[in-house]
Amino acid sequence: MDRVTITVRNNGSLFIAGDQMHLVRLVDHEGNEISTEGRKALSLCRCGGSTKKPFCDGTHSKIGFQGAIAAQQAFDAGQQAAQAQPAQSAQPPVPPTE
Ligand code: FES
Repeated sequence: MDRVTITVRNNGSLFIAGDQMHLVRLVDHEGNEISTEGRKALSLCRCGGSTKKPFCDGTHSKIGFQGAIAAQQAFDAGQQAAQAQPAQSAQPPVPPTE
C-alpha cells in the first residue's frame, strides 16, 4: 500500500507528499473543504506567520521560526549556560579608596 508522508520540516512547514495525494482531504475548523486541486504536495504553515494559511508561504524563515525540537535545544542550552555561571555576590561593589 502506498502511503502519504507528512514531514515535519526543520524550523519550517509540515510537508505532505505521496503517491496517494488524491486521498488527502484538507478541511478548515468547520469541516469545509479547502481545495488542494492540482497540488502534488502540500506545505502547511506551522509557524503561524503565513499570509496564505493554511499553506506555507516561506514567512517562517523571515521570522526566525524554530520548531519545537530546535526551540527546546536552545532553551536547554540557555539553562546549562546559566547554571555554569558562578553566582553573583549580593553585596554592592566597594568604592575605590583615595
Ligand atoms: S511554516 Fe512556512 S510560513 Fe509558516
